[in-house]
Amino acid sequence: MPSIRLVNVTKKFGGITAIKKLSLTINDCEYVCVLGPSGSGKTTLLRLIAGIIKPDEGEIYINNKLVNDVPPQERNVAYVPQYYALFPHLTVIDNVAFGPLSRGLRREEAYKVGMHMLEMTRLAWRAESLPYELSGGMQQRLALARGLACGAKILLLDEPLGALDARLRVELRFRLREIAKENGLTVIHVTHDQEEAIVVADRLIVLRGGEIQQEGPPSQVYNEPKNIFVAHFVGGANFFEGFIAETDPHGSWVQLRNGFILRVNETRWKVGEKIVIMIREEKTEIIKGIKRREDINLLPGTIKEASFLGDFVIYGILLDNGDNVNSKMPTLLGIGKFKIGERVYVRLRTEYLRAYPYPPQGLYQELKVM
Ligand SMILES: Nc1ncnc2c1ncn2[C@@H]1O[C@H](COP(=O)(O)OP(=O)(O)OP(=O)(O)O)[C@@H](O)[C@H]1O
Ligand SMILES: [Mg+2]
Repeated sequence: MPSIRLVNVTKKFGGITAIKKLSLTINDCEYVCVLGPSGSGKTTLLRLIAGIIKPDEGEIYINNKLVNDVPPQERNVAYVPQYYALFPHLTVIDNVAFGPLSRGLRREEAYKVGMHMLEMTRLAWRAESLPYELSGGMQQRLALARGLACGAKILLLDEPLGALDARLRVELRFRLREIAKENGLTVIHVTHDQEEAIVVADRLIVLRGGEIQQEGPPSQVYNEPKNIFVAHFVGGANFFEGFIAETDPHGSWVQLRNGFILRVNETRWKVGEKIVIMIREEKTEIIKGIKRREDINLLPGTIKEASFLGDFVIYGILLDNGDNVNSKMPTLLGIGKFKIGERVYVRLRTEYLRAYPYPPQGLYQELKVM
């Protein structure tokens, strides 16, 4: 049974179309993450579902009931806004117990639920504080605890972990998912942290300019991005511009700038077409030594930089044709392996290359949009 369904929903603010003819179905008990750059319409989408704003066009259904004209308090949805609206005059525990009390729980029971949620968000020790006495991250956790405690089956979370330190963020995202699964909640979790989205979601929705670019299981969106924008926004990617030089029944030869040639497995292109080739940073390979004559997709270049990320290192290589490649590898395998200025080959295996039509406004413009 679908929990939430949007059909052709449009929302405009003056001249800005924040959500464009968006259709979306979210199933009961599904954990969905909405990912997108700033201004892509993520908050607007949640506010439409919560009922705080109304669509200009289209329908919104919750549990198969049309809710366009149903006020927020009757939608049985908990909305935890990006900028938390706490009750300033109530203590932490009173803030959290407010929801359970207003849905008719006995006082003792309501405070028990409240304390449980405060323990979950590691705030129980501040139960008697007032919101203004808390740090920003604590206020965010309080808002989350309050949303969880209110008992709604649908949870709309807008950047619920955005203000937390990295350690707590990672800990709480797993707890959030656990709570959702234990209690049969349907969750829409908005974030612009792609790692958070990939780890926590059953399904990922990538939004841009109020439109869905791609939706699917995180591994599918990551491994088979439908367009350059998704490839760039979800995960590290290298891009190369080129022309189709030759095609055969098994693939195509692509001419990159300054004469470099790449083989791709795709056969859907015509000779002369301008395309963009993408490969994930961790799927590239750096090779020392001499090129064997039969090797294809082995491009010469020079190591220009090495960035240490903790568990990973990224080498930046300037290919001899002027293109750049980032190559990401586990620190254990990669640290100190190549020196700045060292001559190397980069292997771009055909099975990892994906080709896209060249964007009408140019590659640079397409990547800049965020
Ligand atoms: N109340 C409003 N009045 C006017 N414009 C608005 C209003 N709310 C949103 N917008 C516009 O709609 C677009 C989408 O905004 P929204 O807040 O949904 O983005 P977002 O994806 O949540 O961004 P962020 O990641 O920065 O929170 C933006 O261009 C924004 O300026
Ligand atoms: Mg927002």
